[in-house]
Amino acid sequence: MCGGDYVGMIRQTEIIIRTKIDDGLRLAFVINRGARIRGREHFGFKDGSSQPSVDGVDPTPGPNEPAAVAIGEFVLGYQDGTGNTPVVGDLWMDGSFAVYRRLVQNVIAFREQVAAGIPGSDPALPAGTVGAKLVGRWPSGAPLELNPAADPGEGHDSNAFMYKEASFNDDEGLTTPRFAHIRKVNPRDETTPDPVNDQPQRRRMIRRGIPFGPALPADATADDGHERGLHFLAFVADVARQFEFVQRQWLNNANFPSGQVIGPNQPYGPPQSGTPADGPDPIAGEHDANAQDALHQPSGVHAFGLISELINVSAGEYFFCPSIRAIQRLASGATASVAPSAAQGGQDSTTG
Ligand code: HEM
Repeated sequence: MCGGDYVGMIRQTEIIIRTKIDDGLRLAFVINRGARIRGREHFGFKDGSSQPSVDGVDPTPGPNEPAAVAIGEFVLGYQDGTGNTPVVGDLWMDGSFAVYRRLVQNVIAFREQVAAGIPGSDPALPAGTVGAKLVGRWPSGAPLELNPAADPGEGHDSNAFMYKEASFNDDEGLTTPRFAHIRKVNPRDETTPDPVNDQPQRRRMIRRGIPFGPALPADATADDGHERGLHFLAFVADVARQFEFVQRQWLNNANFPSGQVIGPNQPYGPPQSGTPADGPDPIAGEHDANAQDALHQPSGVHAFGLISELINVSAGEYFFCPSIRAIQRLASGATASVAPSAAQGGQDSTTG
């Protein structure tokens, strides 16, 4: 799988790879992005600010940045986050699983959700702040946790923040709501309903978001009929434990993190009576028509309706990305041996 801004660049890459593996490669298909937007996804936010720091590869994380993640969480055949080094056959070694989702974004619905505000919020939130509360970062990428009042502009898309840690003291989500997209998909150090099994550091993914389709003009009040969205790619060593768990247990789950554990490998049940559930991820969650998120403010908890799902999955697939050495061996007729357990579905296996 190779990506680039120009078809010519991709063809060039194909030629380079071909020289390494003789005739074992065939170009299966090319996906054109259409008219492009740069630097931001279609709802208007900078993407890609938070990536796992890979132990031994990336610089050591600074204060309040999530700890480095073992390389075996992303690449097969290496020590993982538990210290275990899985035995995999040589065609799997150095490979990685890629999750692909073609996510069509409903930009008008996002703008309507933001314009609707959060009824009952006290103080009332301006539209720009509502958008930031839904995502957990401002459009520039600056995190709410470090910039609670306003967007400081470009160059502040730091990853050096936690939620529960004393200097942030935001376990309740007064600054970054617990339903915010970035908090649902990476709760960092927040208290989760199942601290033993949630293990946020074992759910990390190396992500690439590639926008497709033309931008909807800022003053548009109706959809223009063009499809636009995000080619979502995540590289992991275990699709079930990482991507599917995040999608099922956290992102789509209205009861995370305020809910209760109802059994091993079960989605969390509703929270104690009287406490509204945090609600699903308003950006990327699948939910019912009457779904609600709950904004916590010092003035109280304000539940508000989600107008509609903002994304629609129009295509998706799981891929295995072998190493170049494995492709060379495949080209010479080798057959696979000793599959990784991830390929057969891990402990949290389910469809996302
Ligand atoms: C069209 C749909 C989506 C949009 C518009 C979107 C947008 C964003 C944005 C703006 C950020 C903040 C930038 C950053 O922290 O890197 C972000 C972060 C992230 N997103 Fe998404 N996203 C989408 C779908 C998904 C899905 C389906 C998943 C996983 C199931 C996901 C996982 C993540 C993760 C893990 C982070 C980093 C959070 C952190 O470490 O703090 N996203 N996304």
